[in-house]
Amino acid sequence: MSDGTPTAQPVLRVRDLRVTFSTAAGPAPAVRGVSFDVSPGEALAVVGESGSGKSVTMLALLGMLPGATVTGSAQYRDTELVGQDPHLLRTLRGAKVSMIFQDPMTSLNPVLTIGRQLSLVMRAHQPQLTKKAAKVRAVDLLEMVAISQPQRRVDSYPHELSGGMRQRVMIAMALANEPEVLIADEPTTALDVTVQAQIMELLDELRVQHQLALVLITHDLGVVAGATDRVAVMYAGRVVEAGAVDAIFHSPGHPYTRGLLECLPRLDTKHPVHASIPGVPASPTSLPPGCPFAPRCKYVLPSCSQAEPDLIPFGDTMVACSVITGVAGTQ
Ligand SMILES: Nc1ncnc2c1ncn2[C@@H]1O[C@H](COP(=O)(O)OP(=O)(O)OP(=O)(O)O)[C@@H](O)[C@H]1O
Ligand SMILES: [Mg+2]
Repeated sequence: MSDGTPTAQPVLRVRDLRVTFSTAAGPAPAVRGVSFDVSPGEALAVVGESGSGKSVTMLALLGMLPGATVTGSAQYRDTELVGQDPHLLRTLRGAKVSMIFQDPMTSLNPVLTIGRQLSLVMRAHQPQLTKKAAKVRAVDLLEMVAISQPQRRVDSYPHELSGGMRQRVMIAMALANEPEVLIADEPTTALDVTVQAQIMELLDELRVQHQLALVLITHDLGVVAGATDRVAVMYAGRVVEAGAVDAIFHSPGHPYTRGLLECLPRLDTKHPVHASIPGVPASPTSLPPGCPFAPRCKYVLPSCSQAEPDLIPFGDTMVACSVITGVAGTQ
């Protein structure tokens, strides 16, 4: 198990990434200085409630947010992705850096067979591949993601498959061009618990087999344990806590992380309740002064509204909370 420090040279290195949308209500800083690394064979979970900026972070580094202002750096190996030529980004996207999007039903084309969709994805990046060879490879890919009877399934349409199978097809599509980085955005949300566990197991196996650098986005800390090495917890567009998965579970520092952990359904009570942190998540267009979590925080002090705390080492993790670390940050 990793101690929280990547062991190999990172394949994806993100520094101070910022994304601002221009909205009718004014500028919306949805991502406000996110940094992380992922190395080959390693899994990083990015966790946070709805609207915390998880998807926007990933879409920004893939150059998929036209109209948004994106600053900072996101390097795939030696290639800077922020501000990169759209043509080069298109050749990298889906090939070297691949993403499984949040909603499989809207990502799969309902009028094309899954074999044809896999073939299109492959031939977009490998034009020399014949249709016949692409179909053979499509069957292999379906087999790789453990879809039974792949020879037959390759000619199925998305609506003929179960939710779990569709998610496996999405994974096959994301891996079709042998990427080094796989970003999986809520890959199990719409699935029931048993199928969720199977999909997580599959991602884990594929990560090890193909030495993928995996970024797993989820709002559910429950799926993270056992499936990732490190965790970055996001709130209001920033990473508020980061560390090795064991440390996040056993000695969380940030009150928000503690809140997320307290919300996990417990097996040791007779009546497990699905709790949530009181209050509503901060909106990018109306961030409170100082720490954006302060209005919901049970440890809040008057000083919390004065400055936004920096992410600094504290205990076993990195924490952005001036109450816990005793260090005020910068505004
Ligand atoms: N195109 C856009 N224009 C304006 N604001 C946007 C746009 N896309 C996203 N946002 C805002 O950016 C913030 C972050 O959104 P994001 O989709 O990254 O959240 P998320 O953490 O992925 O949430 P979820 O768990 O619901 O998927 C939200 O407040 C969202 O409303
Ligand atoms: Mg999202």
